[in-house]
Amino acid sequence: MTSQFLTITRPDDWHLHLRDGDALTAVVGDTARQFARAIVMPNLKPPVTTVAMARAYQTRIEQALAKVGIADGQFKPLMTLYLTDNTDPAEIVQAKESGAAVAVKLYPAGATTNSDAGVTDLLGRCAKTLEEMQRVGMPLLVHGEVTDPAVDVFDREALFIERVMIPLRQAFPELRVVFEHLTTKDGVDYVREASGPIAATITAQHLLYNRNAIFQGGVRPHWYCLPILKREVHRQALVDAATSDSPRFFLGTDSAPHARGLKEHACGCAGCYTALHAMELYATAFDRVGKIDKLEAFASHRGPDFYGLPRNTDRITLERTSFLIPNEIPYGSETLVPLAAGETLSWRLV
Ligand code: NCD
Ligand code: ZN
Repeated sequence: MTSQFLTITRPDDWHLHLRDGDALTAVVGDTARQFARAIVMPNLKPPVTTVAMARAYQTRIEQALAKVGIADGQFKPLMTLYLTDNTDPAEIVQAKESGAAVAVKLYPAGATTNSDAGVTDLLGRCAKTLEEMQRVGMPLLVHGEVTDPAVDVFDREALFIERVMIPLRQAFPELRVVFEHLTTKDGVDYVREASGPIAATITAQHLLYNRNAIFQGGVRPHWYCLPILKREVHRQALVDAATSDSPRFFLGTDSAPHARGLKEHACGCAGCYTALHAMELYATAFDRVGKIDKLEAFASHRGPDFYGLPRNTDRITLERTSFLIPNEIPYGSETLVPLAAGETLSWRLV
C-alpha cells in the first residue's frame, strides 16, 4: 500500500514570471502558498535592467503580497536583472554587494515574450559584464534558444548549446550558469556531463507532456510555451534527469500567465500558467515513474544548494487525492486558464 501523504521541506521556484500591476496581485498568492522563495524573471515592459528597477519591482511584489494577505516574510522574491548589450559591469557589483538581485537573465533578442531588449551578440557585446559576473559569483540564467529564423523551432535549444553555451563557458569557465527550462535530451546530456558550475531548471509541463499535447484534437494554445514542448524521447530524458541523484537539475516552473484572450488568439502568447498547482503537477510527474521519493531533493534541496542559500526549514504536505484543476481563475479584469484546466491530478497540497 503506497503512502497517502508526502511531507517535504518547503520548496522554492527557481524560475517564475510574476508580471506587474493587477496581474501581479492576481497570481502572487498562488506561488506564495506553495513556495518560500522564487527567482522572479525581469521580462517586464520595460525590462528590469538596473538595481534601482529591481528594488522598485521587489517593493511592488511585497505590496501585492500584503494586499492578498500573505504575512510579512512568508515569501521572499529573489530579484534578477535583465542583461542587455549595454549592461554596465558596475551594476553587477552593486547588485551583488547590496543583494538587490541574485542573478542576471540572458534573453537572446527576440527569443520569447518581451525579449526585444535582449542580447544581440553575447560574447561580442557583454564580455566585460560577464567577466564581472564571473569575478563576483553572480549567476547567469540562460534562455537557451537560438533565434535564427532559419532554424526549426524544435531544434533551437540543441543548436544553442553548440553555438552559444559551449563558447560562453569556454570563455568564462568559472561563471555560474543555469540553463533555464531545459527541454531536450541534448540539453540534459550537456548539463549532466559539462565541467564547471552549471545547473538547469525543469518545468512541470516538460516533465508531463510531449509536443502531441499542443495538437491533441486541435490546436491547444494553453500547452504552448517557449521553449516549445518536444518529442517523447526528450520528455523521458527530462524525467530521468529530474528524478536522478544529479545535483544539477532542480525545480523552476516558468509559470508564465497570459490573459485567456491573449492565449486563445490568432497569434497566441507563449507561456503556461502553473503556479496555481505547481507542486501537484510535479508530484504527479514523479509519481508516474515511481520516484515520488526524489521530489524533495529536486524541489527543495538542489536549488538553494546551487545558489548558496540556506534550505528552507518549514515543511509542506501533499496528499494523494484527486484534485480537479479549475477551468479558469480571475486575472485582474480578465481570466487566466491554468495548464490542464478541467483535468484531474492525483496529488493535492494540504
Ligand atoms: C515566458 C513569458 O511569457 O514571459 N513565456 C514562456 O513561454 N515561457 C517567457 C519565457 O520564459 O520564455
Ligand atoms: Zn520564463
